[in-house]
Amino acid sequence: MTVYSLNLKVFWLLVIILFTGIWCMFLALRRSSHEEDGGCQENSLSNLQLLFKLGLVILVCYVVFKCCNYPRHKDQNLNFHHQHQQLLRKNLLESFYEQHIKLSPHVLGHSKAHVSQIVGELIKVGKAKQHDTGVTFRGDYLQIGSAYEQHKINSPDCFDILVPLKMPQSLKLEPVFAEVGKEFMPMLHGSIICGVAAPKKSEWVKTYKQFSNCFCIEVDLRHHLSATLILKWFHWKIQRCLNVIRYHFEERCHITLTVWDDKLILKILPRSDYVCCHISMSVRLIPAFHLGDSVYVTAQPWGSTFHQGNLHLDPYWGINFSKYEQKYLAWFKDQTPSNSCHLKCLQIMKSLRDLSAKTFQPSSTCQWRAVFCSYNLKTTLFYLSLQIPFEKWDDSFLMERIADFFTFWKECLQKEALMHFFLGNSTLPNFITLPKMFKEAKPVNLLEGYGQEVLDQACFQLLNLWVQMPRILRMSSPPRNFIRESFRCKHTTL
Ligand SMILES: *[C@@H]1O[C@H](CO)[C@@H](O)[C@H](O)[C@H]1NC(C)=O
Ligand SMILES: *[C@@H]1O[C@H](CO)[C@@H](O)[C@H](O)[C@H]1NC(C)=O
Repeated sequence: MTVYSLNLKVFWLLVIILFTGIWCMFLALRRSSHEEDGGCQENSLSNLQLLFKLGLVILVCYVVFKCCNYPRHKDQNLNFHHQHQQLLRKNLLESFYEQHIKLSPHVLGHSKAHVSQIVGELIKVGKAKQHDTGVTFRGDYLQIGSAYEQHKINSPDCFDILVPLKMPQSLKLEPVFAEVGKEFMPMLHGSIICGVAAPKKSEWVKTYKQFSNCFCIEVDLRHHLSATLILKWFHWKIQRCLNVIRYHFEERCHITLTVWDDKLILKILPRSDYVCCHISMSVRLIPAFHLGDSVYVTAQPWGSTFHQGNLHLDPYWGINFSKYEQKYLAWFKDQTPSNSCHLKCLQIMKSLRDLSAKTFQPSSTCQWRAVFCSYNLKTTLFYLSLQIPFEKWDDSFLMERIADFFTFWKECLQKEALMHFFLGNSTLPNFITLPKMFKEAKPVNLLEGYGQEVLDQACFQLLNLWVQMPRILRMSSPPRNFIRESFRCKHTTL
């Protein structure tokens, strides 16, 4: 990608013209002083000659310069210039990373320990005294998302936890891929509809009537698990569990449960005298059903912003391959040098996305963030991890790798395609043993449904971000003083 640099060609041409101009003026002055004491018949003729000679001189100078000098200069100077620019950018980016992006492992460690203790207690209480007639807690939980994959940015205060749920034993979950048209919103592509099957159809009326009322919607006489109803139940259940454990943690922290944009969030505010790093934390609890082999479906928080016309989002569930993603990242970490910059690149890309979003109109901010959502950026990393030799991920190649991210995205946006790395990919590395249903699924384009205009604009903004990067970094907020005051987590799949 090109950066603005002084155009040497134009520069030297200007210098030549300037000097010949001065010389010409000098000659003309001398001549006119001669003329004052002499005749003037041949004056206009010799002036014309002079002009012609001058023109010739300029032309020759320029051609000579262009033919022999310029290429050498170009190689030396431009290269140096380029390197100089790169070094400048690298220094800026490195210091920005240290000051704004990198998290303190100490604080992150404390926060994680605190979160897992509280969530562990919650799930334990939830699992006690359950009846097999409704949806129940399985009793385990999964730590997913950036805080657990070491690419969290800004502040160690948001955590994602999958809470696996169980159906009554006699009922069976029958997942199928949802058929959605091109025009639908991007999040729906690759989503799942969870059919629920009873041993006998007649039993729905007798045995499972209550289950059906509480958790299902009926579409064409078939029962589908409703994401909305499950979320509602889940909220109620977690609230009850929280009431049980709250007094136990009373001395250490203040815990509340809130719903934000359809997401259930546990807010933990440690009392100041209890832990050394008392930052407030939000833990998003995500109800999930296990489909087998570490694949989960999660109730998607469609939120008010996503309700499109009269489209019923109720039956749509999202697939979550977090376990596979973690496995892949762990494998990749083993292949690369110990100071590999792959996670750093991901963090920097997320941070640059956020910084540049601040300079946009509110209307385009939303789309920019959706196109460059963390999952899409992570997908980029999966692809680049296989395109670039492992040893080239050494930290000394940081700028080259960041440039790769930009180039990769430019091409994706121009092609309007970024394919899901796991879903429908039949050539996955063989240690990723994805169930057949997902391996053989229809490939999913993560950029489907945005429309060309949005992607074109994102492309323009991306190129602009690359060019303006030094300025954007310099303009960004002063160093954070206090972790407590930093960036409030909004839990927007960051
Ligand atoms: C799984 O859930 C986490 C947390 O919400 C999210 O970051 C990730 O993108 C999800 N994965 C998929 C494949 O949707
Ligand atoms: C599938 O995964 C392989 C990695 O094994 C990757 O090279 C390829 O680009 C992926 N293909 C698609 C269509 O996603």
